[in-house]
Amino acid sequence: MRMIDIIEKKRDGKSLTKQEIDFFVSGYTNGDIKEYQVAALIMAIFFNGMTSRETTDLTLAMAYSGEVLDLSTLGKIIVDKHSTGGVGDKVSLILLPLVSSLGVPIAKMSGRGLGFTGGTVDKLESIPRYQTGVPVQQFIKNVQKVGISMISQTLNLAPADKKLYALRDSISCVESIPLIASSIMSKKIASGAQKIVLDVTVGKGAFMKDMEQAKKLADTMIQIGKLSNRETVCVLTNMNEPLGYSVGNTLEVIEATECLKGNMPEDVKQVVLELGSYMIKLANKGENLEENKIKMLENIKNGKALAKFMELIENQGGDISYIQNLEKFPKAKYIEPIYATKSGCVQEIDSKEIGKLAGMLGAGRDKKEDKIDYEVGIVLNKKVGDEVEENEVLAYIHANNEDKMQYALQKIKEVIVISDQFVEKEKAILGFCGG
Ligand code: URA
Repeated sequence: MRMIDIIEKKRDGKSLTKQEIDFFVSGYTNGDIKEYQVAALIMAIFFNGMTSRETTDLTLAMAYSGEVLDLSTLGKIIVDKHSTGGVGDKVSLILLPLVSSLGVPIAKMSGRGLGFTGGTVDKLESIPRYQTGVPVQQFIKNVQKVGISMISQTLNLAPADKKLYALRDSISCVESIPLIASSIMSKKIASGAQKIVLDVTVGKGAFMKDMEQAKKLADTMIQIGKLSNRETVCVLTNMNEPLGYSVGNTLEVIEATECLKGNMPEDVKQVVLELGSYMIKLANKGENLEENKIKMLENIKNGKALAKFMELIENQGGDISYIQNLEKFPKAKYIEPIYATKSGCVQEIDSKEIGKLAGMLGAGRDKKEDKIDYEVGIVLNKKVGDEVEENEVLAYIHANNEDKMQYALQKIKEVIVISDQFVEKEKAILGFCGG
């Protein structure tokens, strides 16, 4: 078999066989196939798509490109959660300790920032000394000991996805249903999830720009879940404006901690409660979704969720004194406000543009070897639908470089749009698929 023939076949819009998919996935993982050839194939898949059979074959080839964890030894149902990506999406940091505090074991392998979206691993690594790369045995032990572990893909789990994820990011081939579905589901299968709750984001700051595309992605992942015997449900959530107020790694950890203390912005609250209610249900810990939401709110109020977050951090080697005293986190050198130039109602805060601006400030990577600047980002002071007075603060830019700061200050004026008319607040939950 030759890689060049596989590229030609997909370039011409034909379907690949299981053998051809296995060949390129294993060849790329072990270094036998050159990156430029895989890049060409990925671009061909991006344009010509894949059938559902090809997508499932790709998912399984990626899932079995490394170790596949068997978490049945834990003796409990392992329910995993994953988001298709967003801006200001700190949901995992809040939701996973929260459901773990209700007895749902969490064994979570997260990703780094991708394109204009942030990644949970980068956020966790902004907590001093938090270890995201731990050996498999330690990962499992952590789940056994404190009921939760959140790690990166540094283990030999779905290594093909790890390489393809970074490659897709560097050649602008992220927004593809078969590539996103196989990336997410391969990780979930490899990390031993028995049931899966997916947050499928929709809108400007998501990879799926409309409901039709988002439903297609959701259905594809649910189908893969069925074929691999993993019950999967998808909640469709709004990503037109950033989720919550903060975008940037340390800034989001601070906001997530505040959320766990009970200070949750309405959109974050709705997404956390919706996803959590399904996680608890799939874990057989509560049939009634509304009652599950009440239990979650109780564990925020009584401090158990925050305590679980600290237990998680401490167990991964992190320094909880930063969480206990959020002032301890290092701050960016420049923190500058942006003022409204007129009174009115906030009509739009384009989350893709905000994500790109945060990335430009250093919160994300241009190249995979780039280092993240944890302190920088954007903190909104207003959300869509809020009233605003002339000269009121719309947002703060946190930067460590003066030129970047000046650029962000100019650019953000185009991104936050104020209307003279009344504007309705965005809906956080847009739909549900599966179950
Ligand atoms: N999250 C992933 O893990 N993979 C993607 O391709 C997109 C979002």
